[in-house]
Amino acid sequence: MNLVPQRLDGSGGVLISRCNGESLLDLPTESVKSLMRSAGVVMFRGFDAGPEMMKQFADQYSYKFNRDRLRPTVEGSGGHVQMVTEGMGYVDPHCEQANSPFRPDALWFTCTKPAAEGGETLYWDGIRLWAALSDELKDVFRQKKLRFFQRYSKEKWQLFLGYDATVADIKKELDGVEGVSYFLNADEALYLEYVSSAVVQTRYGHVEAFANSLMSEWKNTLGDLMTFDDGSLITEDIVQEVKTALDSCTEAVDWQPGDLVFIDNSRFLHGRNGFTDTTRKIYSSLSFLNF
Ligand SMILES: [Fe+2]
Repeated sequence: MNLVPQRLDGSGGVLISRCNGESLLDLPTESVKSLMRSAGVVMFRGFDAGPEMMKQFADQYSYKFNRDRLRPTVEGSGGHVQMVTEGMGYVDPHCEQANSPFRPDALWFTCTKPAAEGGETLYWDGIRLWAALSDELKDVFRQKKLRFFQRYSKEKWQLFLGYDATVADIKKELDGVEGVSYFLNADEALYLEYVSSAVVQTRYGHVEAFANSLMSEWKNTLGDLMTFDDGSLITEDIVQEVKTALDSCTEAVDWQPGDLVFIDNSRFLHGRNGFTDTTRKIYSSLSFLNF
């Protein structure tokens, strides 16, 4: 079976449509991997996907899954599929869990019921974004790193490490990891400082990409504006220039029921348009890739 990818309109991503009634699980894995490597965003349409199928499909390309801090898991998925339930507003561009050392390689979404209006998943190619920034700002981001602060209760860090993970496990996981400083409170809550560059190397091709969680974390970390690792403020001007670059390369998934989307989390940021339809149903999985 040969895959016939089409360019998504005005986008770097590609679309695979079902043509002969084949199952998503029958698609030739090597061809799918090759598309994922090159395009970074691949949409599968017409395959009648849902949370169960997404788990089986993502399993073919993954060796490990992260759970999400905010989302309820889907029964029977081993905690590997979550329902996207948080809020209905606009979601700022971010890479998934890029504010922590738990950042997964890939993000998977499937939609069984799109919103009547709005609710599109948005995405931005970090390679294009980096190219759109001025040389002056690139220098700033090359010289200074982002600094994220977070508090995880025990139940929250167990989402990453497993439900029976202990304090010894979290220490083993975090000790010696680049950019990580942490403190474990008496109630076993984890206070984590994570320092990482805003510009990262993509998993495939090792190209520089502006792929981070600056925009989603800028105002909500400790209630203050974020600083760089040297303590200097990330100013409105800097954020405004990033916003302008983002606006120049926004792409959108206009959901149809049964769609499934793969996103390379080392290269692409994602977000969401707001919506009001309470019947919208989208599921997500976060995984580490086996290729
Ligand atoms: Fe997200």
